Amino acid sequence: MNLPFPNQLIEALKNATHIAVLTGAGISAESGVPTFREAQTGLWAQYDPQELATPQAFRRNPKLVWEWYAWRRELVAKAEPNPGHLALVALESKVPQFTLITQNVDGLHERAGSQAIIELHGNIMRTKCFENGRLVNSWPATNDVPPHCPHCGGMLRPDVVWFGESLPYEALETAVASTQTCDIFFSIGTSALVQPAASLPIKAIQAGAITVEINPQPTPLTTHVDYALTGSAGSVLPALVAAAFPPA
Ligand code: APR
Repeated sequence: MNLPFPNQLIEALKNATHIAVLTGAGISAESGVPTFREAQTGLWAQYDPQELATPQAFRRNPKLVWEWYAWRRELVAKAEPNPGHLALVALESKVPQFTLITQNVDGLHERAGSQAIIELHGNIMRTKCFENGRLVNSWPATNDVPPHCPHCGGMLRPDVVWFGESLPYEALETAVASTQTCDIFFSIGTSALVQPAASLPIKAIQAGAITVEINPQPTPLTTHVDYALTGSAGSVLPALVAAAFPPA
């Protein structure tokens, strides 16, 4: 970890009026939720997540894709928010305006207690109809995998954004607006590769925000931010928040 943190960064955090944060799979890694670009283990080792998370894959083999998400849903249900998620809850309470933009579908930010969350890629715990997009809370118990929509009989799928699909319009608009009006922008635990989320840090830089990346590995963004903090979110974030806002 890069200790001590630069004084200018600590002062900027203390004086911030609006902090926007973009998170990716890396922030949930320490909760035991696998990231997208690391090799899968066990049952799913032979599959590339990027080839399962598409409408084409679902059309080709809906049972396989449904079961992969059922497995991920189970992992997420068992996972607990980690110190990285909790540090963001603490940070939200310290600044006048805070926007948490996440690419994660695991709902761990919400379970940690974050308030202003924009879910860019949906939520794995929700289910919708593949045919008409309608959200569905329950469906008749049958042995069908995937189960069927109680309204139209179409196949059900998770309410997440797959590769090649559009992001929810309002969520993206709000995320872009926050990115362009915040004074500090964090990119945490994301490979900064998948568009359009990957363009948000660039928009923040263009709008003049102070930019900070937290990631144990370099990404395409690392050389462009003001502060690249090398380390895991679960260790860097709590230390950074404690340095800027020491407990009384
Ligand atoms: N703390 C911080 N960052 C971490 C940690 C950690 N403990 N562990 C791993 N990372 C970093 C990795 O170095 C990597 O840069 O998290 C990043 C995870 O990258 P991805 O798996 O590509 O996840 P993400 O950027 O969220 O992917 C974006 O792509 O697959 C789609 O829709 C999916 O939302 C996902 C999107």
